[in-house]
Amino acid sequence: MNIRLCLLWAFFAFGVEAIWKFSVKHITTDGDNDATETYLPLPSTDPWYRAPDGWEAAQPGTVFKVRHHAYNVSLVPVANLKEVFQVLFRSTNSLENATWGVTTVFIPKNCTQGIVSYQLPYDTSCLDASPSFGLQWGDPYGEIGQSLGRGWWVSVPDFEGPLASYGASIVAGYITIDSVRAVLATVAKEFGVKNARVGLWGYSNGASATEAAVEFAPKYAPELKLAGAAIGGLTPSLSTSGPMLRGTQVSGLLVQGIIGVTSQYPEQRKWVLSRLHQSGPYNATEFFWATYMSGWQSLLYYAYVDVFQYFIGGRADLEEPGMLAMFYREGTLGVFGIPNTPIFMYHAIDDDTTPIGETDSVVRNFCEKGSNILYHRNSWGGHNDELTNGRQRSLDFFGTVLGGGNTLPFPATGCETVDIKFMQDPNKPIA
Ligand SMILES: *[C@@H]1O[C@H](CO)[C@@H](O)[C@H](O)[C@H]1NC(C)=O
Ligand SMILES: *[C@@H]1O[C@H](CO)[C@@H](O)[C@H](O)[C@H]1NC(C)=O
Ligand SMILES: *[C@@H]1O[C@H](CO)[C@@H](O)[C@H](O)[C@H]1NC(C)=O
Ligand SMILES: *[C@@H]1O[C@H](CO)[C@@H](O)[C@H](O)[C@H]1NC(C)=O
Repeated sequence: MNIRLCLLWAFFAFGVEAIWKFSVKHITTDGDNDATETYLPLPSTDPWYRAPDGWEAAQPGTVFKVRHHAYNVSLVPVANLKEVFQVLFRSTNSLENATWGVTTVFIPKNCTQGIVSYQLPYDTSCLDASPSFGLQWGDPYGEIGQSLGRGWWVSVPDFEGPLASYGASIVAGYITIDSVRAVLATVAKEFGVKNARVGLWGYSNGASATEAAVEFAPKYAPELKLAGAAIGGLTPSLSTSGPMLRGTQVSGLLVQGIIGVTSQYPEQRKWVLSRLHQSGPYNATEFFWATYMSGWQSLLYYAYVDVFQYFIGGRADLEEPGMLAMFYREGTLGVFGIPNTPIFMYHAIDDDTTPIGETDSVVRNFCEKGSNILYHRNSWGGHNDELTNGRQRSLDFFGTVLGGGNTLPFPATGCETVDIKFMQDPNKPIA
C-alpha cells in the first residue's frame, strides 16, 4: 500500500480542489499521535459518539447531547473564532428508519442572529474523516472563517451520518435538516439566541446534501423556516456521472461511493461482498481499504484504477437491478420535492465533473413549480474554479438573507437566470 501510495504522489499534477485535502494519516499512524490530550478521540472510539438508550423513539431533530468547548480553540486555525460546541441529535436514514447525527458549531467573536449550515464535501466512507473530527486541524477553504467574520454562527453537520454514507443523498438531506433543528434548539436554550435565521451552503457533494435538504424540508420539517440556500456545482444525477469516474484521476470517489451508498442498503451491501474478488490483484480487502482513507487519500490511492476490475462480473455487477435502483434512488435530485426556500444556484458552464445541462433542468423544473431561484451560469472555469469563483457571491447572498455586510441582489419572487463571466481576483481578499 505504501509503495503504491508513494508512486501515486508522482501524479501530483492533481488539480482536484473541490475535495477537502484532509488526511487521516497523522491519526491512524498511532504511536506518534498527538491527539490524546488536546484533540478529540477518533469518532470510532469516542464514547460521546453514541446515542442514549431508547433514542429511536425520539422525534427527528431532538437534541441528545451537547459537548461544550469541543475543540481547544487556541489550536484551531480558523479566523474570527470564539468557541466550538457539538450537538448529537436524532435523524432519519435512507430507508426512513431512525439514525442520529452530529454537528459542530463554530461561534463567531461577534455574534449576530444568522446561522450558516455549511455542508462540507468530505467524500469518504471513513467515519474518522468526518468534519467533526478533522476540522480541529483547520478550515479547508477559509469559508468557515469568512462566515464567522460576517457575524454568523457556522454549523458543519457530518451529513454522511454514523455510517459515513458517502453518496447517499437521502440520509444526507435528512441529517442536514435535523442538524438545523438541533442547532436552533441549542442556541435558543443555551445561548438565548431566539429567532435565528438559517442559511444552507454546499458545493459539489455538499451541494447534494443541501439540495436534498431543501427538497425534503417542506414535508419533513414544515415548521422550519429557512432563510436561503447557496448551492454550487450540483450533481443532479449520480447514475450518469458515477460510471464516468472509472479509470480517471478521481476513481477513488467511485470506490468510496459504492461502499458509502451500500452502507445504507444491507441487501446491496451483501451483493457487493459476494461479487468482489477475494484474492489476487484488485481484491475485496484492498477495495475496503477505502474505509480507512479520507476522500483525498483515496483519490491518491485509487487514481486511474479501473474500479470494475474488483468485481467478478466487472461493470455488470454494478448494473444489477438492485444496485441500479439504489443508485437511482440515492443519486437523483430534483424528484423529492419542490423547495420553498430562496436558492442561489451557481454552476460553471464548462463544469467537467457534473454537466450543467442537468442542473439547468432541475432549476427549470423548480421554477415552473413556483420556486424562488437566482441561477448564475459562469462561463469562466470548470468545477474546481467555480468553488472559488462562487465564494464571494455566496457570502453576499447570505448577506441578503441573513443580514451582515455586502449583499447580492435577489429576486423577490420567481426565478432569474443570469449568464456571467466571473473570475475571482486572487489578489482580492474574500470578505
Ligand atoms: C490547548 O492547547 C494549548 C496549546 O497547546 C495548551 O497549552 C492547553 O493546555 C490546551 N488546553 C486544553 C484544555 O487541553
Ligand atoms: C427499520 O426499523 C425497524 C424497527 O427498528 C426494524 O424492525 C427494521 O428492520 C428496520 N428496517 C431496516 C430496513 O433497517
Ligand atoms: C489483496 O490485494 C492486496 C493489495 O494488492 C494484496 O496485498 C493482498 O495480498 C491481496 N490479498 C489476497 C488474499 O490476495
Ligand atoms: C459586529 O457585528 C455587527 C453586525 O454585523 C456590526 O454592525 C458590528 O460592526 C460588528 N462589530 C465588530 C466589533 O466587529
